[in-house]
Amino acid sequence: MKKPTVINLAVVGYGGMAGHHASRLKGHPLYTIAGVYDIDPARGDAARGDGLRVYGSYAEIGADKGVDAVLIATPNDLHPFYAEYFAARGKHILCEKPAANTSADFETMVAAAEKNNTVLMVHQNRRWDKDFVTVRKVAESGVIGAPMRVESRVTGGNGIPGGWRKLQKHGGGMMPDWGVHLIDQLCHMVSAPIVRLHCDYSYRQGHECEDGFELELAFEGGPSARVTVTTDSYLPQPRWFIYGQKGSATVADWDCRGKIAVKKEYDGEIKGIAAGNGFTKTMADLPDAAVAVYDLPDVPTDYNRFYDNFAAACAGREPPEIKNAEILRVLKIMEAARASHEKRIVITDKL
Ligand SMILES: NC(=O)c1ccc[n+]([C@@H]2O[C@H](COP(=O)([O-])OP(=O)(O)OC[C@H]3O[C@@H](n4cnc5c(N)ncnc54)[C@H](O)[C@@H]3O)[C@@H](O)[C@H]2O)c1
Repeated sequence: MKKPTVINLAVVGYGGMAGHHASRLKGHPLYTIAGVYDIDPARGDAARGDGLRVYGSYAEIGADKGVDAVLIATPNDLHPFYAEYFAARGKHILCEKPAANTSADFETMVAAAEKNNTVLMVHQNRRWDKDFVTVRKVAESGVIGAPMRVESRVTGGNGIPGGWRKLQKHGGGMMPDWGVHLIDQLCHMVSAPIVRLHCDYSYRQGHECEDGFELELAFEGGPSARVTVTTDSYLPQPRWFIYGQKGSATVADWDCRGKIAVKKEYDGEIKGIAAGNGFTKTMADLPDAAVAVYDLPDVPTDYNRFYDNFAAACAGREPPEIKNAEILRVLKIMEAARASHEKRIVITDKL
């Protein structure tokens, strides 16, 4: 296997996400960009405009001995073909998420990388998102006691973005687009296996692909989680909400606005309030004596670690931090979610 210290990376599919990678890697000490191949000549022109070489075909990349690794940033259905093609030519693979449309396809990609002794690592970048590392830190710190339920939600009002994301054959829909990130994050927060799963996809905007979903999970030992994605919410909803044994916490948005609230020993009276046409003590605000409210911790995170680790993995210095077994598990959970929706069943297989 080639063990380069500076990775000469070629890019296949120079759309929105590849542009993000290219700008992150500009001037990076561990990377050079060999060039770009895109089926759309306009994207080739865009790459030229960004000062990048444009390959005439993907085969030219495969034949270029100077290329150490290939970033695959095409629509999802094309990832397996390109991963297998370039692994067979000795190239390391940095693959966009979701790695593949099916777990079986991903197993084929892993087998191709193993056979050719090349690295295959999937870009699960949201493990380094600040809202995620913050909520995980709060959950692990014990400040609200053992987490009993996690709600993870991503909501917007812009519908499914255009083009291939609306089409099944390309791996469109909100489960592959966002679900893959949110499930991956949850699996890094709760270590127990999933023992119960139910999912409803939504098609409120009338596309062939789901415009959102509600996924309900129960983990062995008790904790549960709900993962929500919508593309027709025109008002904000909290990104995270956790129920713990002693309190609750919310990380409300990407900028980590939110609070931690911990119940105090309190046997004073809770004053009832008028609520709608009724009266309630149950849902009345807690008095200050009954609950302590804290700011969220400022948890540092370094997304560069992703690129550093991929480079180190290609050089044989570190194992990939994003493990293919983890990717496979998430794809299987996504498949179970689809089966639950389509057959209207609760899945009780251990996942
Ligand atoms: N990790 C993340 O945060 C994140 C965010 C956005 C997108 N993505 C992923 O990145 C990938 C690309 O998404 P995008 O938003 O950049 O899409 P995009 O439509 O902007 O870009 C895809 C590019 O692939 C090109 N392409 C299509 N067919 C091709 C082929 N046969 N050979 C070569 N190029 C081809 C298209 O012309 C286009 O330029 C997807 O897998 C997506 O899920 C990841």
